[in-house]
Amino acid sequence: MAVSTGHAHWSSRWTFLLAAVGSAVGLGNIWKFPYEAGQGGGGAFVLIYLAFVFLIGTPVLIAELSLGRRGQLSPVGSMREIAKAEGRSSWWQLVGWSGVIGAFIVISFYSVIGGWTLGYFFQAMGGFSGYDAAISGENFQSFISDPLLPLLTHAVFMAITVFIVARGVQKGLEKAVTTLMPALFVILVILVIYAGVAGNFSATIDFLFSPNFENLTPRRVVEALGLAFFSLSLALGSIMTYGSYLDRSINVTRSAITISAADSAVALMSGLAIFPIVFAFEGLAANQGPGLVFVTLPIAFGQMPLGVVFGTLFFGLLLVAAITSAISLLEPSVAYVEETGALSRRNAAILIGGGAFLLGILTAYSQGDSFLSDVRLFGFDLFGLKDYLTNNIMMPVAGMFTALFVGWFVARKSMLAELAMSVRAFRIWYFLVRFAAPVAILFVFLGLLFGDDFYNLLYSVDVLIGIVWFALAIASGRLAYIRDRSPAGWFLVGLVFPFAVLFVAVATHGTIERAQLREAHKALGEPEDRDEY
Ligand code: TRP
Repeated sequence: MAVSTGHAHWSSRWTFLLAAVGSAVGLGNIWKFPYEAGQGGGGAFVLIYLAFVFLIGTPVLIAELSLGRRGQLSPVGSMREIAKAEGRSSWWQLVGWSGVIGAFIVISFYSVIGGWTLGYFFQAMGGFSGYDAAISGENFQSFISDPLLPLLTHAVFMAITVFIVARGVQKGLEKAVTTLMPALFVILVILVIYAGVAGNFSATIDFLFSPNFENLTPRRVVEALGLAFFSLSLALGSIMTYGSYLDRSINVTRSAITISAADSAVALMSGLAIFPIVFAFEGLAANQGPGLVFVTLPIAFGQMPLGVVFGTLFFGLLLVAAITSAISLLEPSVAYVEETGALSRRNAAILIGGGAFLLGILTAYSQGDSFLSDVRLFGFDLFGLKDYLTNNIMMPVAGMFTALFVGWFVARKSMLAELAMSVRAFRIWYFLVRFAAPVAILFVFLGLLFGDDFYNLLYSVDVLIGIVWFALAIASGRLAYIRDRSPAGWFLVGLVFPFAVLFVAVATHGTIERAQLREAHKALGEPEDRDEY
């Protein structure tokens, strides 16, 4: 039952799907995924990222869409009303608040990176001929260190976003997504093929797909989780808000699976386009950080036939993908303010976009050797701090509470009615949101907080945890069997248990070695670089 109705709706199922894919596919897939995979050491990071996308992200995506659709309000309003309807505490609206605030922080830096894309779009028109690793790196450094360009492009990017949101999401969005998203996909395919021919493809396959768990630190595991949420647009209210524009005829589950598949396909393709170039050129490093895409691809565009055309198209389309995501980041807070009746949609968009622009200036000037680049808070620069806070803390926490809410605090029969899936599919989903998602997120978190101590503890009770998990899975499978005599419940055991084993293996592997390494460094009196462990 919808708690309240009466605001805008998508014009069709197709529009909704494109808008949601437009929100999901963006800089997270093409800019963030490759550089974090590069820093995370490749294979193992990619593997757990994909596991997180499908086993945690997708169930949470289904949860968020259905909460938004049921609430028909902004994330704050939807959480408040649904909690009320279910007889739960009004504190649950904090999940909505965390989303609205988190999305505001994310758009403040997202727009800066969107600005870089805009800058590169113009550069690409002039071509990148003769670019090698040194020239390209130098070019990127001088762009982000420029006193004016990052600010100007950030302003333009934010202005476009505000403009579209002010007019109402549906109107602004429909055309952009129907033609331009497929075009981006085609360009990516061309880039992958080119990189495959001209670059080092076999090293790339090796890097991205052979898991090397030694490189995985607690920090990287939580980063993979945050990235899975980030690239699916989860836990900050974007998807919940888009869900609120849905009417009840839409199959939420099928939509969620389509979104996740498209999203991870784009991320992997981006990796397949970028890393062959990284491994083919002297002087490019897989772990170089946020500049990776901007340093690597121009080299390819400088050498390939029709490079000016492809380069311009690529950065132009990436810009569109970034804008369709940015819209969904601004939308939750605008929807909230509009809903309170304090401001019109237009004024809310301008005010909030303006605020995010100001906050984003800190990010713009924290890069390269700009004047804020030396500022450190809690050991982070001003971009890294916002990224860490949202990606590694706010999103996992909000994601966990979303899963707990639908899994434990909304009546099972409300969810069953809301989702209208087959009983079998529902049972799998329900198990994932009740147990797998919260527990996995909690583990990842404890690992981040306590580092090696927690992982060593986990290692020593490894077998025990495995047994408990297995027992839980068996018990729920058995219960399902008793309830309707179908063996479907056993399927859960098959699905969840390997994941648990994988997770515990990933979480514990290499910890001992890292501890030994740290001891060795200590013994030599070398400084402790925490990231290395
Ligand atoms: N998913 C988008 C990307 O990959 C970014 C994004 C849009 C987002 N809305 C979000 C990230 C909500 C987190 C939460 O570029």
